[in-house]
Amino acid sequence: MKKAIYPGSFDPITFGHLDIIERSARLFDEVVVGVLANSAKSALFSTAERVNMIQELVAKYPNVTVDSFDGLLVDYARQIDAQIIIRGLRAVTDFEYELQIAQTNRVEYPALDTVFLTTSLNYSYLSSTIVREFASYGGDISRFVPQEIIPLIEAKYQRGQ
Ligand code: PNS
Repeated sequence: MKKAIYPGSFDPITFGHLDIIERSARLFDEVVVGVLANSAKSALFSTAERVNMIQELVAKYPNVTVDSFDGLLVDYARQIDAQIIIRGLRAVTDFEYELQIAQTNRVEYPALDTVFLTTSLNYSYLSSTIVREFASYGGDISRFVPQEIIPLIEAKYQRGQ
């Protein structure tokens, strides 16, 4: 059984992330989407909100579950007995950072391998940061995220207005 973890901030999840999840679900027996619960980082969505959102969007994949983790990814991977970390690579600019993290994680936990999936070309420009930036100015984000979560994102920027 190949159990993989797809970790990230997912603040919010985008079509790029969902594309990686769909492809990972075909490649591995079990995929755990691991939402980083980092209280130091000021996130748009709470950890529970991000987990719930993703759970709804991946409900169609029977081998995909969603969870949150705190602390080091290697510790969480050990805890859930995952042998593979999945990361998406958009462009060469992602590579250096991702390589460093993958190698550090492997030093800490040699049984753990990182598998990189190249992001589909139509999403190679996309990031959660871009989605937040666009939404904060009232831009159309329908090409970036699923319809179901657009009202949730927009609501975050309507508060206090
Ligand atoms: O979506 P992101 O923000 O690019 O995801 C980054 C993530 C969550 C994969 C990374 O920050 C992470 O694994 N954080 C947990 C702490 C850790 O293990 N860091 C890597 C070792 S230096």
